[in-house]
Amino acid sequence: MEMDTPAGRNALDAAARGWVGKPLDRVDGRPKVTGRAIYAYETMQGPATAYGYVVEASIGKGSIVSIDAQAAERAPGVVLVLTHLNAPAQGQGNHHEAHPVLTGPEVAYYGQPVAFVVAETFEEARAAAYLVRVRYDRAPGRYALRANLDRARAPRVASADSAVGDFDAGYAASPVRLDEIYTTPLQSHAMMEPHATLASWDGDQLTLHTSNQMLNQGRQAVARTLQVPVEKVRLVSPYIGGGFGAKLWVNADAILAAIAARQLSRPVKTALTRQQVFHVTTHRSDTIQRIRLGADQEGRLQAIGHDSYSGNLPSEPTFEAAAMQTRTLYAGANRLTRHRVAPLDIPVASSMRAPGEAVGLLALEIAMDELAEKLDLDPIELRLRNEPREDPERHVPYSSRHLVACLQEGSRRFGWAARSPRPGQVRDGRQLVGMGVAAATRGNPLELSRASVRLGPDGVATVRMAMTDIGTGTYTILTQIAADMLGLSPDHVRMEIGDTAFPQASGSGGSFGAASSGSALFDACDRLRAKLAAAAGVDPGAARFADGRLEAGGQSRALVDLVGASGVEADGEIRPGETLKAFSQQSYGAHFAEVGVDVDTGEVRLRRMLGVFTAGRILNAKTARSQAIGGMVFGIGAALEEGLTLDPRFGFYVNHDLAEYHVPVHADVPEIDAIFLPELDDAANPLKSKGIGELGICGAGAALANAIYNACGARIRDYPITLDKLLGALPTQS
Ligand code: MOS
Repeated sequence: MEMDTPAGRNALDAAARGWVGKPLDRVDGRPKVTGRAIYAYETMQGPATAYGYVVEASIGKGSIVSIDAQAAERAPGVVLVLTHLNAPAQGQGNHHEAHPVLTGPEVAYYGQPVAFVVAETFEEARAAAYLVRVRYDRAPGRYALRANLDRARAPRVASADSAVGDFDAGYAASPVRLDEIYTTPLQSHAMMEPHATLASWDGDQLTLHTSNQMLNQGRQAVARTLQVPVEKVRLVSPYIGGGFGAKLWVNADAILAAIAARQLSRPVKTALTRQQVFHVTTHRSDTIQRIRLGADQEGRLQAIGHDSYSGNLPSEPTFEAAAMQTRTLYAGANRLTRHRVAPLDIPVASSMRAPGEAVGLLALEIAMDELAEKLDLDPIELRLRNEPREDPERHVPYSSRHLVACLQEGSRRFGWAARSPRPGQVRDGRQLVGMGVAAATRGNPLELSRASVRLGPDGVATVRMAMTDIGTGTYTILTQIAADMLGLSPDHVRMEIGDTAFPQASGSGGSFGAASSGSALFDACDRLRAKLAAAAGVDPGAARFADGRLEAGGQSRALVDLVGASGVEADGEIRPGETLKAFSQQSYGAHFAEVGVDVDTGEVRLRRMLGVFTAGRILNAKTARSQAIGGMVFGIGAALEEGLTLDPRFGFYVNHDLAEYHVPVHADVPEIDAIFLPELDDAANPLKSKGIGELGICGAGAALANAIYNACGARIRDYPITLDKLLGALPTQS
């Protein structure tokens, strides 16, 4: 089906048992905790398997003068050393299209693979990797965004800029103005499972057991890189230990393993070490964002300007779209948003959880807090006064938008009324205590997806699609959808996902996974219901499916009696359509944070946090809450801890491990809560749901930044807000 008109009342609304929405435990939970869930690197292919280890470039920019691999080749167990001297020609393309490796002597970034050592064991490969001698000719590199702003240019896409009304005139005429710069650092996804692949060839057929979020796109990229037909490539990825965007696209592990396996005629397995993940794969660009807000005396925005700078390799067309949400979040007649990207000689900058909004809201939502203070307005009230009636740039209605309800409900639950509007007024022991608020919003995309569902004579429905579960709960929510649509209990639904042998699916990314794959499954189940009704000789519209039975017009038939000996199968599909153009579709939320700031050291402790969200139909109360809380924890890290430290001389991330790249640990995260207010969005998809994978991070860090200001009066505009930035800004204690 194509999403051209809002969904009317449908079979899911009428579903008999209501599995959808329930806090059903993860159906993949037991296999995961008992070790029966097999991840890419754990997949066994027998004793013929060889193991590969990546050798990274140790310069930031330049070229290889010579590689001496002789010592490595003679080392115990080594069967192959791949370098640009013996690697095959490959197809080219940007990071979304292809991932050629070892293509020549040029070094474009620190950590670029320059050799791949394959041995009988991982340990032998790793030991031999240190024997590869590479001589380089260094070229001057450009590594730091701030030092290269003069070289930033408009990305080659139409959506890079937007202008509505006359920003300059509107801003100049505004009696209350704000013009500030905010910065966010380089970030790394830091998912639990490093990138890993097991590659094996059967004749000209390649199978990659690999940790990848979007298998169909990955398959295309592998085929293009290796210059083989796409049908000859199969990606298998049933379990994925997190991705956050780092595994959206194919990375070096997959291509290196595939090339080595072909050359050796034996399976090759490889994993990046934790340290290698930071340089060999992608990161989120740092940003420098200028925000200008002009308001009248009542706080109504007259002008909104957001300029955002990010960096990327010169060969990559993408950029950090940090100003996108500023086009739609608040009202205001005069608007200007611009993205510029500076060419930098550091690894590929790519998507990381809520690309765009996550860092854009870190800036915009401090700016709104600052504007509220200038106006002597409560920051919630400022947002209420700028609630738009339609999308202020596209001039289309919102599909559903309940930001106001999120702010108001959160205010009530959090006890916002007790907040002192003046900073530095509340003290608890050594801590100055403050509260902050920030809005959350994230776009709601829909992607082409297909599914097949087959009801067997045993009464078990088997669902197949090339969907992935990156830890988000896909297995579980798809099980719930099939159970409701077919009137089965969840233990009569078998999910088979994570394999390009199954129908094409969106994969997991951009918060489109659940809606896209779930809608395809909805459609497949709807078609299966029609087939079952036909088999029973009843009108599908009148049929009710419950308890493994079809009931209609007084008759009740067991489904197993309708499917025959070979079962009945149906295919479904969802295509994005007109409703994406006719409506402005976003999910919304409001974050509330209370922090304590040590009066002497500036140490920030989060004391409590609440997120209130609306995201259409919630498919599973437990997995949704986990997604929201996970995003909020990400926001805590963005506010207080996370950031890659670039050595500007060498284009090298100094803190490339989890000891030095800080993410929140248990001690950093007190009791936090996330709730979803009831909503159905019938323009979004037939499930009436919206994506939630990224909503929780959006705005979360800004709520902490604003709480820090409210606590101690230090307005820090450069993330992360670490002690060194706070120390000089703390009020003097008597
Ligand atoms: Mo997401 S950054 O699309 O995994």
